Amino acid sequence: MIHDLWYKNAIIYCLNVETFIDSNGDGCGDFVGLTDKLAYLAGLGVTCIWLMPFYGSPNKDDGYDVSDYYGVHPRVGTFGEVVEFLNQARQLGMRVIVDLVVNHTSDQHPWFKAARSDPDSPYRQYYVWSKTRPPKWNKGMVFPGVQESTWTRDVKAGEYYFHRFYDFQPDLDTHDAAVKEEITRVMGFWLQLGVSGFRMDAVPFLIERKGAKVRPTRDYDLLHDMRDFLQWRRRDAIMLAEANVPPQQTLHYFGEEGDRVQMLLNFWVNQRMFYTLATGNAAPLRKALLQTYERPHAAQWGIFLRAHDELDLGRLTDRQREQVFAQFAPQKRMLLYDRGIRRRLAPMLNNDRRRIELANSLLFTLPGTPVIRYGDEIGMGDDLDLPERYSVRTPMQWSAQPHGGFTIGRRPIRKVIDDDVFGFQRVNVADQRRDPNSLLNWTERIIRMRKECPEIGWGGWQLLPRMPGHVLGIQYDWNDRCTIVLHNFADRTTKVRLRVDGRPPCPLVNLLSQDRSEPDEIGRHVIEMEPYGYRWFRVGDPERPLTAEKNRRR
Ligand code: NOJ
Repeated sequence: MIHDLWYKNAIIYCLNVETFIDSNGDGCGDFVGLTDKLAYLAGLGVTCIWLMPFYGSPNKDDGYDVSDYYGVHPRVGTFGEVVEFLNQARQLGMRVIVDLVVNHTSDQHPWFKAARSDPDSPYRQYYVWSKTRPPKWNKGMVFPGVQESTWTRDVKAGEYYFHRFYDFQPDLDTHDAAVKEEITRVMGFWLQLGVSGFRMDAVPFLIERKGAKVRPTRDYDLLHDMRDFLQWRRRDAIMLAEANVPPQQTLHYFGEEGDRVQMLLNFWVNQRMFYTLATGNAAPLRKALLQTYERPHAAQWGIFLRAHDELDLGRLTDRQREQVFAQFAPQKRMLLYDRGIRRRLAPMLNNDRRRIELANSLLFTLPGTPVIRYGDEIGMGDDLDLPERYSVRTPMQWSAQPHGGFTIGRRPIRKVIDDDVFGFQRVNVADQRRDPNSLLNWTERIIRMRKECPEIGWGGWQLLPRMPGHVLGIQYDWNDRCTIVLHNFADRTTKVRLRVDGRPPCPLVNLLSQDRSEPDEIGRHVIEMEPYGYRWFRVGDPERPLTAEKNRRR
C-alpha cells in the first residue's frame, strides 16, 4: 500500500483572515498580512490551513452568511492577493482548505433577494417556503436563547421561509436540482483556484430534506455526489465535514465504502475529552474512542480541542455536562445556548501549563488528524464582554506592540485582549519565540514529533488494558512500528504498569525527553507519571527506519 492520503497525517490550522493580521492599517486582517505570516505557520509545522469564510457577506454571523460565493470580501483583499497567498502556501508545502457554507445563504444574497420579490422568479424554488406558519415554527433552533424561530415571515414574499440558523440565513433547498448545480459550481470554482478541499458547514442540515410538510430525513447520497464531483475535478481534494452526530450515524457520513466525506470532526470524542479533563475520569473518553473506532480505511477523524464556536457539550448526559460546567464555566456568562461554554482552552484550564500540555498532547495523539485553532499555540485567552461566540474570536496576539501587533491602525475590528493574565503584553508570539520554554516552542516541538509518528494517523490502535481510572493508554501499531501514549488526568503522581501487546520485551524510549524504561524479566514496564503527565514512547529504537513487516530481513 502506498500511503499518499495526505490528510491522514496533516497538521491542520484553522484561522479567520480578518482576525489574523492586518497589513494596511485599516484594522481588519487581510490576505497580504496572512501571506507574510505563512513562514510562521510553516515553521510551526502546519501542513494545511483551513480558512474560515472570507467571501462577500454582510458579516452578521462572522462570514457564515454568504452573499457572494465567488467574491472575496473587499476588506480582506482581492482575488489577486488570494491567488498569491495560495501560491506562497504551496511553495512552503502547505495546502489550503476553505469553508463551504451552502446549507444557507445570507438574506442579502441576490438569489434570496430575487426569490422574495417575485413568486415566479427561478430563484424562488432555491429556498424553502410556506404560505402559512408551520406548526413547528419555533422548534429546532441551533442558537436557543438568541434565535427565536426556524420559520420567519418575509413581508416582501408574503410567505414564511425556513432558516435552521439565524433569520438572516435562509436555508437553501439542497434537493432542488438547480441548487445542487450551483453548489457544485461553487466547489469547482475554488478547486480550480487551487484549494485542496472544503470544511463543510452544518452537514447534517445540508443533507436534510426540508419543508413545512416534509419529514426531515437525511439524504446521504448528496455527499456521495459531492465527493464524486470533487474528485473528478481534483483527485486529492478532501471534504472535512462539521457534523456533531452520535457514533452510530458516522458511517453514513463516511459512506460504508468510504465514498462520501473523507474527514469528520470528532465532536463525540471532543466532548468526552473535556469531561475527562474536568473530572479526571477517563472512562467516558475510552468509551467514546471505541465507539468511533470503526471507519472505512481511507476515512479519517479530525481531532480538535477548541473551535471558533462554543464548546458544545450537548451530547453529554445532563450530569456530565454540569460537572464540566462546574469546572470550566463557573460563571453564567461563560455559558451559551444552554449547552456550551464560550471560552478558550487556556482560561478553562486555569492557565495551568501542565494541563494545557496534557490537552494538547491528547490533540496530537488521539486517533486522527489534529486541527489546531489559531492562538492556542501561544495560549490565548477570551473576552467575555463580546457577545455570543465572538468571545473566542479576538485578534491574534503577535507582539507587545499596541493592539498586540495585529494592526498599526487605531481601530482593530475587534479589541485585542489586554487583561492581566492573557493580555497581549503577556501572551504574544514575539516573546514566546525567543523563549525556549514557551508554549509556542513546545507546540512546535510536539508537532515535529507528531509528524515522525505517522502510525497515529494510519495505524490500528488499542486501548491499554488495566490502566488506573484516571489514565488513558493507547498502543498504535503500524507495519513494524509500535508507539505507546499515556495521559494522566489526575492531579497526583501515578504508577502505570504495562506490557506491550504482541511484541517481545523491549525498552520504551521516550520520544519527548531523555528517559527510557527497561522491561523486567516478564516484559513489564512500570512508569511513574507526574500529575497531569503524558508520555509518548516508541517501542524499541526510535531511529530505526520504518519497514513493512513483509519486507523485513530476519
Ligand atoms: C457552523 C459554524 O461553525 C458556525 O460558526 C455558524 O454560525 C453556523 N454553522 C451557521 O453557518
